[in-house]
Amino acid sequence: MTGYKGPERVLSGIQTSGDMHLGNYLGAIRKFVDLQQKHDCLYFLADMHAITVWQEPAKLREQTFHIAACFIAAGVDASHSIIFNQSAVHAHAELAWIFNCVARLGWLDRMTQFKDKAGKDKERASVGLYTYPVLQAADILVYKATHVPVGEDQKQHLELSRDIAGKFNHDYKVEDFFPLPEPLIQGPGARIMSLRDGTKKMSKSDSSENASIFLRDEPDVIAKKIKKATTDPEPLPSEMAGLEGRAEAKNLVGIYSALSGKSDQEVLGEFGGKGFGVFKPALADLVVEKVGPIGAELRRLEADPGHLESILRDGAARASAIADPVVAETKKIVGFVD
Ligand code: TYM
Repeated sequence: MTGYKGPERVLSGIQTSGDMHLGNYLGAIRKFVDLQQKHDCLYFLADMHAITVWQEPAKLREQTFHIAACFIAAGVDASHSIIFNQSAVHAHAELAWIFNCVARLGWLDRMTQFKDKAGKDKERASVGLYTYPVLQAADILVYKATHVPVGEDQKQHLELSRDIAGKFNHDYKVEDFFPLPEPLIQGPGARIMSLRDGTKKMSKSDSSENASIFLRDEPDVIAKKIKKATTDPEPLPSEMAGLEGRAEAKNLVGIYSALSGKSDQEVLGEFGGKGFGVFKPALADLVVEKVGPIGAELRRLEADPGHLESILRDGAARASAIADPVVAETKKIVGFVD
């Protein structure tokens, strides 16, 4: 944040591109819930980011309500924190354009997520997918947010947001107009891997249903997915060093520790020497205990989209009230005539 003197503000977003999974919960939403106790927080549904790859319109609407329901079911308090969908607050797109003119092509060329998502055929990727991190910088800085809770995969995008804020402040000679936002990544659960392949992160877009535990999964589905999770034939080690080279085992231990509040070493103290025949049922019970109630609440909330819609409408109005003056001031700094 360097010399920024404004108030602390927390912001984060989740793309409305699929069902919410355990990685999103442990890497992001759980932190959202903790942070709202002591901070002013804005949490949004990144529907504009979602359309950087094709989304069926009806499905996009459904997913937007789904993620809003996940926030609330997991404990985000809509009367305190501001929950809204990105496209309902015009200021994001407006600031993103200005930032498109601040960010450098070379910076975007280095973004690994674009390379992963565009794959080999990058000529056919949307332009939006390429400038995606610039919109992300606008999402954060349009509220002058100072802290951004995210999973580890967002680290590079957060660094880009800091670079954009710094260059804007420097080029327009407005020292500390935008804060340099701090990523909040630390803690267990920052990188949850696929249940089928411990070298790939758990992702909304995985083609295998069994690779991810979704917050909407019923308890029997959760237990079945954990039972089927890829593992090796060895028992769990008693020390952390024994998990090296055993990506799947390491991931399951990581999930257990993130949900139980124990350290990885404590989990190995309890299960070291035991096989997956013992560990998997214990893990399934724990996931069902912690995630099951969120799923039940989620289903209840999704049955009333009108209620979710009114929460989002109210959130968008509260968010715009913060963002609009920041955009107005930014436009003045840039030299636009209003
Ligand atoms: P998205 O929608 O891919 O993921 C939402 C959040 O979940 C975290 N996450 C994970 N954490 C641990 N293990 C995993 N396997 C895992 N998969 C996802 C992500 O790190 C993220 O915190 N670009 C963002 C959305 C966004 C945003 C923003 C975030 C748009 N604008 C401004 C923060 C601030 C994204 O695609 O997240």
